[in-house]
Amino acid sequence: MKQYSFDKNIDRNHSNCLKYDSAQVEFGTTDIMPMWIADMDFATPDFILEAIRKRTEHEVLGYSLIPEGWSNAIHSWLQKRYLWNVSSKEMGFVPGIVAGIAFLIQCFTKPGEKVLIQSPVYPPFHNVPTKNGRELVINPLIYKNGQWEIDFEDFEVKAASGCKMFILCSPHNPGGRIWTKEELLKMISICEKYGIIIVSDEIHADLALPGHTHTTLGSLYSEKQEKIITLMAPSKTFNMPGLSSSFYVIQNQELLTKFQRFMDNAELSHGNIFAFTAAQAAYENGEDWLRQSMEYIQGNINFVDQFLKKNIPQIKECVPQASFLVWLDCRELKMSPKDLQNFFITKAKLGLNAGDSFGTGGEGFMRMNIGCTRESLQKAMNQLKTAVDELFS
Ligand SMILES: Cc1ncc(COP(=O)(O)O)c(C=O)c1O
Repeated sequence: MKQYSFDKNIDRNHSNCLKYDSAQVEFGTTDIMPMWIADMDFATPDFILEAIRKRTEHEVLGYSLIPEGWSNAIHSWLQKRYLWNVSSKEMGFVPGIVAGIAFLIQCFTKPGEKVLIQSPVYPPFHNVPTKNGRELVINPLIYKNGQWEIDFEDFEVKAASGCKMFILCSPHNPGGRIWTKEELLKMISICEKYGIIIVSDEIHADLALPGHTHTTLGSLYSEKQEKIITLMAPSKTFNMPGLSSSFYVIQNQELLTKFQRFMDNAELSHGNIFAFTAAQAAYENGEDWLRQSMEYIQGNINFVDQFLKKNIPQIKECVPQASFLVWLDCRELKMSPKDLQNFFITKAKLGLNAGDSFGTGGEGFMRMNIGCTRESLQKAMNQLKTAVDELFS
């Protein structure tokens, strides 16, 4: 088995890299370590780069059919990892998960109709429905013993208020929670009761950390034909989000037909050659790389946890069950969201996502992307320690 190394520091500056090259715009300075937007600093796996190189050996990049190998690779991946049987007819290309959410909102809801989300959550869950003129209804999550939980009583009250669609973040970003099968079944049952379509954004699904298992919502689809739509991608998993390569799975025939028509009418279902090539290579060859990268990430998560406990007890890690994003509870620093963000930028010289940008419930938290080398992470944590020490000296 090939051993991969995740210790190489790769210079991403001046490569049109959003995370690095927009530091000035995002944080007002270039003098920060960027640990915000969710891509990793690791090299995209060699078998993906090689597959893209190989495709360019053919000199024509013409219009392409959707490769059978692409749907077969997704089919096998979902079957093996999630015991979920999806046929090629039940899946389709979307040029990004956020774009997929926007299309689904446009396809299945009307302007002014209500869309349910849970907060705090990935900012486009808030922005996309509102930008499309839909009314946002929020089911606040509860932060208890360092983890996010669902307030089901409130969820049902909100669901019953006339919501047409519920957008679920599974696993949860920014909390890194993997929802249990029981929690998922409860959400399905409430949504079914009120005729609500569930859009499950599972972009972080493959990134379940060692010892944790993700259940895809779609695998709970039964003969009751629940209104479930799943969005997935190899983009976060294999660090290639610049190659829009996402897909949807819809097993409810009525919803599938309607969405396929929507995508066809908008001429949006063609995909692109490199996304298909990369996704297929990722799912066919990616198991070892993924396991090793997740072991490295787990090491980073443990490092942050231990470092904080030993050196910065005022900040606590919400230990994630999935993905490479760590939610830091900074409430003991007793700063307003604006002061907290300024403190991280100007004192710790770190560019993180401010917790309040994830909506209600995010105030006093910061989201740190630890998809980087251990060396960088150590440097970042030392900078944070120096800044907090100064604060309390
Ligand atoms: C929950 C979630 N959904 C979607 C995305 C972005 O997906 P895409 O780049 O495919 O639109 C992210 C990126 O951080 C995310 O965390």
